[in-house]
Amino acid sequence: MMLASVLAISRGTGDRLGGVSCVWPSIPAVPSSSSHSALGAIAAAARALAACTRLLVLTGAGSSKDAGVPTFRCADGLWRDHKPEDLAAPEGFARNPDLVWDWYRERRLLIARAQPHVGQRAIALLQQHYPAPGKVLVATTNEDDLFDRAGVAGVVHLHGSLFETACSAGCGWRHLDAFDNGLSMQPCPACGARTRPGSTWYGESLPKGVLESIAAFKPDGCLLIGSSCLVQPTSVIAPELIAAGCPVVEINPEETPISPLAACSLRATAKDAIPPLVDLLTSPTVRDQKRRIT
Ligand SMILES: NC(=O)c1ccc[n+]([C@@H]2O[C@H](COP(=O)([O-])OP(=O)(O)OC[C@H]3O[C@@H](n4cnc5c(N)ncnc54)[C@H](O)[C@@H]3O)[C@@H](O)[C@H]2O)c1
Ligand SMILES: [Zn+2]
Repeated sequence: MMLASVLAISRGTGDRLGGVSCVWPSIPAVPSSSSHSALGAIAAAARALAACTRLLVLTGAGSSKDAGVPTFRCADGLWRDHKPEDLAAPEGFARNPDLVWDWYRERRLLIARAQPHVGQRAIALLQQHYPAPGKVLVATTNEDDLFDRAGVAGVVHLHGSLFETACSAGCGWRHLDAFDNGLSMQPCPACGARTRPGSTWYGESLPKGVLESIAAFKPDGCLLIGSSCLVQPTSVIAPELIAAGCPVVEINPEETPISPLAACSLRATAKDAIPPLVDLLTSPTVRDQKRRIT
């Protein structure tokens, strides 16, 4: 997979996609009479990915929702009181830096208190026990550190870190802030300009090297978790993988532009769907079965 067209993109909104639908039934949180079909859906998802030797786990804000971190676009999401351009764009910061900083400090505190959920911890187990060692790469548009704290190694943070503070004048100074948000209260130590949150905002270039590290990994399959697929680079990476013939399995309670194109869409939350899927993906039986079928 070349990922050629994504190497020069900045953060923005992707195009909607069309295609053939292959959607699996909702997964009940508690086993019930319908749990049979839910387990069948998980098994189908595992079969779709079973032959992959370099699995990209690509995640959006929904992957942290079960840890108590709201998404941007859901009904109870972080944008409910403000427009995205007020809070996560250079123009919004220029208009009202105090509003943006208040919002970022509140999110920092929320995420510092949150703990990785069972699905995020299962991804760490997937990475450790995947039959092809070292062959699971996690890339996320989340600015939180929940996958890192769950034990996932080498997480690629496509939109940077919520805990970084940077120079708003672009002198290049940036630093991880402490729990007291101290750096956010001071002028840039290098040039004296105002400091700003270090995350990647709408219309800005992605952090250096993040897309190159995905391209260098050469994924041959993708587990796409909790992304609306409306935000770059997810909106580009997932369709590029599909176009290259790689299976993409989606976990999302809602339909997305990728759903009609995915090998399989699990209509479930991250905490419900990831653990049983990881169980199957790390099972030699499932992988041997796949080898016999193909
Ligand atoms: N935790 C964070 O760091 C965080 C939180 C909110 C937004 N953001 C930023 O906002 C951008 C928004 O884009 P996005 O597409 O990632 O998020 P989004 O808010 O646009 O979409 C979230 C997606 O998650 C799905 N979802 C909701 N609950 C879920 C659950 N329990 N399990 C699985 N999926 C669930 C929704 O159906 C939706 O498709 C991100 O790129 C990121 O920069 C980050
Ligand atoms: Zn500066």
